[in-house]
Amino acid sequence: MAHLKINNLKKSFGNTPVINDISLEVSKGEFCILLGPSGCGKTTVLRLIAGLEQQDRGEIFISGREVSNLSPKERDVAMVFQSYALYPHMNVYENLAFSLKMRKQDREEIDNKVQETAKLLDIHELLDRKPRELSGGQRQRVAIGRSIVRDPSLFLFDEPLSNLDAILRSSMRVELAKLHQKLKATIIYVTHDQVEAMTLGEKIVLFDKGTIQQTGTPVEVYEKPSNLFAATFIGTPQINLITGRVIENEGRIYFSSGELMISPGWYKSLEAYAGREITMGIRPEALTPGEGPITGTLELIEHLGPETLVYVRCGGTRIIAKSTPEFEGTPGEEISLAIHDRGIHFFHDGNRI
Ligand SMILES: Nc1ncnc2c1ncn2[C@@H]1O[C@H](COP(=O)(O)OP(=O)(O)O)[C@@H](O)[C@H]1O
Ligand SMILES: [Mg+2]
Repeated sequence: MAHLKINNLKKSFGNTPVINDISLEVSKGEFCILLGPSGCGKTTVLRLIAGLEQQDRGEIFISGREVSNLSPKERDVAMVFQSYALYPHMNVYENLAFSLKMRKQDREEIDNKVQETAKLLDIHELLDRKPRELSGGQRQRVAIGRSIVRDPSLFLFDEPLSNLDAILRSSMRVELAKLHQKLKATIIYVTHDQVEAMTLGEKIVLFDKGTIQQTGTPVEVYEKPSNLFAATFIGTPQINLITGRVIENEGRIYFSSGELMISPGWYKSLEAYAGREITMGIRPEALTPGEGPITGTLELIEHLGPETLVYVRCGGTRIIAKSTPEFEGTPGEEISLAIHDRGIHFFHDGNRI
């Protein structure tokens, strides 16, 4: 049985639909990432689950119990906000203890939970400090600690790392992964950062314009993007897109675009699209400088250390290939690129073929 189950959830603000009929299941103990660009409705989904917002349609179940019309308090859910939302006049201890005091737990029990949580998050030496005396990373830990002390059946994290600098973000990412392993908690984690999603998630729910675009493990979403949105949103540098046509010549199927003609014999399903316009997506790492079907003019080389990005202009399209650090070339020269089949994807009308 799914720990969290959402059926056909819909929400509009005024006349603007924000959540369009989403359904989702998350198992117990799963770290589920809701990934999507800013404004696509991620926070709204969390607020609906937490009961801070009321859906227009649909049902929400937690541990098999319908919570769709329950108050936030009755749902047994803890939300960690992007803004931390700590009480500024309380010290760390009081911030951690607050929700337990509200539930009238006894003093000793509260103390045990606060101490245990503070140790888990490595903030036990900061218990006397006020939020303003903490760094961003420490505040974030306290915000997470506040949700942990309550031992909720579901954690909702709304971009908890987005206010931290890049170095702190990557170390907190590791901390969160470890924390999840220890707590075995069910977490719905919202982010617009694809790296965070790929590294943290067991399951990624890719979201855009209030609609789920694809659900899968990080590897599945990367290696089998189900539409152009999924293909372009995940991957840095972005997947290269080339529009062309499927043509048939002497019994063979080709993808043709300008000078480029390739015959991906392994891609049987292209046959059904003969004569039609389709889009080919190629991941940069599936292209390497060398003998191959793509030719163009070398535009720019970017040495990133472990790898080198090679920008090639082919007709009206710019293609980015990944190469090794040793790659050398002169902008303006002709260059050809070899293609590795595994990084090629075809799309028709925006959807994967
Ligand atoms: N209370 C509200 N009233 C009106 N519009 C809202 C409200 N909350 C969110 N929205 C709108 O809903 C859309 C989705 O917002 P949000 O869920 O915050 O997106 P995300 O978290 O993915 O950035 C946005 O266009 C936002 O302006
Ligand atoms: Mg948001």
